[in-house]
Amino acid sequence: MADPREIRALYLSASGQLGGAETSLIELLHAVRAARPEWTMDLILGADGPLRPRVERFGIRTRVVAFPDQLAQAGDSGFGGLLDTARRTVVAASAAIGYCGRLRDAAGEIRPHLIHATGFKMQVLAPWCNPGRAPLIWHIHDYVGRRRLMSRLMRQHARFCALAIVNSRSVEEDFRRICPGLPTRTIYNAIDLERFSPLGTVANLDALASVPPADGAIRVGLLATYARWKGHLVFLRALALARRTAPELRGYIIGGPIYQTAGSQFSLAELMAEADSLGLAGHVGFAGFQADPAPVIRALDALVHASTEPEPFGMVIVEGMACGKPVIMSLAGGAQEIVQPGVNALVHHPGDVGSLADALVRVARDRAGRAALGAAGRERAEALCRPERLAGEVLAAYGLSSAGRALRVRENVCSPAGLDT
Ligand code: GLC
Repeated sequence: MADPREIRALYLSASGQLGGAETSLIELLHAVRAARPEWTMDLILGADGPLRPRVERFGIRTRVVAFPDQLAQAGDSGFGGLLDTARRTVVAASAAIGYCGRLRDAAGEIRPHLIHATGFKMQVLAPWCNPGRAPLIWHIHDYVGRRRLMSRLMRQHARFCALAIVNSRSVEEDFRRICPGLPTRTIYNAIDLERFSPLGTVANLDALASVPPADGAIRVGLLATYARWKGHLVFLRALALARRTAPELRGYIIGGPIYQTAGSQFSLAELMAEADSLGLAGHVGFAGFQADPAPVIRALDALVHASTEPEPFGMVIVEGMACGKPVIMSLAGGAQEIVQPGVNALVHHPGDVGSLADALVRVARDRAGRAALGAAGRERAEALCRPERLAGEVLAAYGLSSAGRALRVRENVCSPAGLDT
């Protein structure tokens, strides 16, 4: 049994970018750091990026052990026909073997008591790079059932994992279908409720998006990575439709193509061409990736979430609510667990242009309704997303009693002995 004061916790993240899973990891590291200042906490990243300085600020040691390109780009979305799949799998697998040696050396220097891994690729690699056989915890942020290749790999590696933390009950249900034997625990994400608050600086969104200032415009924005399922096309089409009734609406697409998996994302050119073909030139601005989203959210009159597939959790939804903004969201998946439709968010059906357009018109026309939704959203975010709640639940999941007395090392569950050849 390890002395809880001397715990060395190793975190692994496939990406160093700032998508939802990584933003959630920052808040988790921050919360655990605040609750356990005596721990040694290391983060190893599969790619460098803005995540790294953000966590170094509060005393997390970081190191990049970069994925080789073939591994970084591999994924379910990049795969074409059967032969192509087989070829890419072999290339990615041989890249993974070399990579594991380097990751194992880096992890070996840390001698962790526990490993907490984020991102499917890291989760599958982690058991191969765990020299001290520390308990391995997977933190699942997405529906693995949607991904054929990853489902297979996760199922094969689940026996080397002690516990899966999942970000919603909906993701838990999906994950249990793929890895039925592994204990799971739903832990909702937290956010920094002071940073994401109605009060604070407001970005000049028009300048960021290179569009002329517009007095009296109602600004509605989709803030998301450029992943194809985030619903950019639905948003643009709904905006074009809603502007027929409410021409004061102006749209913003905030974010960029930040991930490396081949074929999984829109390009800016594609989105701009779609906006032009819908007659939205001059009525929609593209603000690119924003490292500090709170001032950008505060510049909006409403935040739009338009994922066309079930959203596992939806960090952006709670960020918008915490900023006191009305949120219009696509009602499916774990995101449904966050809101009460009509009370603290407006909802539309995933992919349904008409119902999203109706909601856009409603927020454009109803100033008092916007204020009421914003206030109720803030209240909900405060109730759901407190960092102290997250820290307590994560430490409990690690097997640490709330009094901080003991870390139960579940050697039998986690030992990757079968991999140790
Ligand atoms: C992933 C999910 C998103 C969730 C985030 C944090 O990015 O797709 O829904 O908000 O992880 O858990």
